[in-house]
Amino acid sequence: MDHSVYIPKLAKIIQVKEEVGGARAIKTFRTVFANGQGFDHRCGQCAMLSVFGKGESMISISSSPLVKDYLQFSILKMGRVTTALHEMEVGDLIGIRGPYGNGFPIDDWKGKNLLFIGGGIGLAPIWSVLQTALTRKEEYGNLTLIYGARTSKDIVFKEELADLKKKMTVFLSIDVAEPDWEEFVGFVPQNVSDKKPGPANTIAITCGPPIMIKFVIKALKDLSFEDEQIYTTVENKMKCGIGKCGRCNIGLHYVCKDGPVYSWAELKKLPQEY
Ligand SMILES: Cc1cc2nc3c(=O)[nH]c(=O)nc-3n(C[C@H](O)[C@H](O)[C@H](O)COP(=O)(O)OP(=O)(O)OC[C@H]3O[C@@H](n4cnc5c(N)ncnc54)[C@H](O)[C@@H]3O)c2cc1C
Ligand code: FES
Repeated sequence: MDHSVYIPKLAKIIQVKEEVGGARAIKTFRTVFANGQGFDHRCGQCAMLSVFGKGESMISISSSPLVKDYLQFSILKMGRVTTALHEMEVGDLIGIRGPYGNGFPIDDWKGKNLLFIGGGIGLAPIWSVLQTALTRKEEYGNLTLIYGARTSKDIVFKEELADLKKKMTVFLSIDVAEPDWEEFVGFVPQNVSDKKPGPANTIAITCGPPIMIKFVIKALKDLSFEDEQIYTTVENKMKCGIGKCGRCNIGLHYVCKDGPVYSWAELKKLPQEY
């Protein structure tokens, strides 16, 4: 049997940026492949990152496919592999195999308004498609981001978001009030209901904790979005990433191959076990 599909490509870390500190630390890594052995990816695709002696984790590629100089990953410190990744520095080598998954159908969305709704580390899978749409702004309608985190310290891409506000509509939120916070206070779905984005010619893309996604979808439905206008990602635990091990299934669907991107219309038809 040919096991080559499981062999990671060697990549060097060229930049590490601390996004969030503390117990739920998030770092953003930029990597380049050794020996020019890289791959092209689509917005919303993932890659399996490996640390020697620790294991592998599936992580969304947060850089746009239009960026050819590096691959970017934003990683929440969770357990064995992600902790080992957080201990790595510029110049260290990791393994990367992929890209995996279907990605967002961004070409089908040309001419439409795009409404991005993210929570916490959920901005990472959104970032790739958001940056791509922003670079090709003339091909899309209005671009809007509604993003929230538990506290102001938990917000990722802080400098980038400040810059983004000059280029598109950005609404931020934190869960509980803080003295210097001037934007919305409350959960992300409440901010969606508060800002009342209209469904006309609009695609909504939402990524974040499952509980946030559930209530964002409810808020969008209350605003008369159709199921076909709402897209999200399913982050079931994954092992092989290539539809072989059965770890990520929802019914007959292999989320690693058929997903992780689904419209709400597609997701509703699947068994409710995610
Ligand atoms: C399609 C996809 C895209 C992802 N994108 C990102 C990303 O961009 N950035 C990021 O930080 N993380 C992302 N994740 C989650 C990431 O894969 C897990 O957090 C990571 O595998 C944990 O690995 P670990 O070895 O550090 O933790 P482990 O030691 O394996 O586990 C630590 C704890 O986390 C739980 N856990 C592990 N994986 C998951 C999971 N998928 N869902 C819920 N709980 C889990 C375990 O049950 C355990 O309680 C993504 C997952 C998927 C499936
Ligand atoms: S992760 Fe193995 S089948 Fe999806």
